[in-house]
Amino acid sequence: MDKKVTVIGAGNVGATAAQRLAEKELCDVVLVDIIEGVPQGKALDLAEAAPIEKHDAHLVGTNAYDASADSDIVIITAGIPRKPGMSRDDLLTTNAGIVKKVTQEVASRSPNATLIIVSNPLDAMCHVAFDASRFPKQRVIGMAGVLDSARFRAFIAMELNVSVENTHAFVLGGHGDTMVPLPRYSSVAGIPITELMPPERIEALVKRTRNGGAEIVSLLKTGSAYYAPASAAVEMAESILKDKKKILPCAACLEGEYGIKGLFIGVPVKLGAGGIEQVIEIKLTSDENAALQKSAAAVQELKSALAKLKY
Ligand code: APR
Repeated sequence: MDKKVTVIGAGNVGATAAQRLAEKELCDVVLVDIIEGVPQGKALDLAEAAPIEKHDAHLVGTNAYDASADSDIVIITAGIPRKPGMSRDDLLTTNAGIVKKVTQEVASRSPNATLIIVSNPLDAMCHVAFDASRFPKQRVIGMAGVLDSARFRAFIAMELNVSVENTHAFVLGGHGDTMVPLPRYSSVAGIPITELMPPERIEALVKRTRNGGAEIVSLLKTGSAYYAPASAAVEMAESILKDKKKILPCAACLEGEYGIKGLFIGVPVKLGAGGIEQVIEIKLTSDENAALQKSAAAVQELKSALAKLKY
């Protein structure tokens, strides 16, 4: 393939993302993990599936970083996932140290790459990767909104018994309890869901979306979601690799848009070969704006906690 994507962390999210990237024949894949044998074994296993899945993507697994050199995209999933009872924020100290180290390793070898951050707490880990890489803000992007809106879309489709393909949804804000699903901008075949469901059902779906990650954690018990998170990261990667210029909700470093400065937070962006090519500012009602500002305050709190940590 003429494109290369490195996935850091060969755990649940990382290995699933590697599988999807290869099976969609988007790029060659380098899978990196600290555990000896795991990235090598998973990459080989995926390569052995290739004749059946009919793709010619090359997969390499490694504990070092040399094979990652000159990647077009690096997807960072390294870290520990949540266990039942833990919030994403509980992962802050451990994952900040991991994300800082792996970002330094990849940034020096792939200075032109775009980074897609998946490790949690997402918005705070974007700040860690941004600082450690010293990349321009257009090339450090957090995966959250695509996942949160996919969850909202799945719930809308279940509720109305329609194809998921007919659904659109928008979720803004941080990747946490303060995320801001926007029913007004969520639709089925172009019809706003506010026309299709009573307010109390919409509220129930919004609540389930906000709680979507925790719902999976409480079922799995030993880890957090990975199929949908991997799909979301790969949709972002595809838009960048193919310069599709999809408008997707992603965590982006804002510089005044939505009245927010110097903070990574989920907003609609255009993703193309240059990474974030545009932050789209949509008109919000005063309630929606208040919810976004509240979410920004929660991210700011984590950012401040991060500044006090030694990692
Ligand atoms: N370098 C490389 N890999 C590392 C490092 C490191 N310094 N530290 C940990 N890892 C690897 C682990 O060895 C493990 O294989 O990261 C992988 C994480 O995989 P899982 O434990 O299966 O976690 P996963 O479900 O993939 O979630 C990863 O994504 O969604 C978020 O909250 C989630 O922060 C978590 C991350």
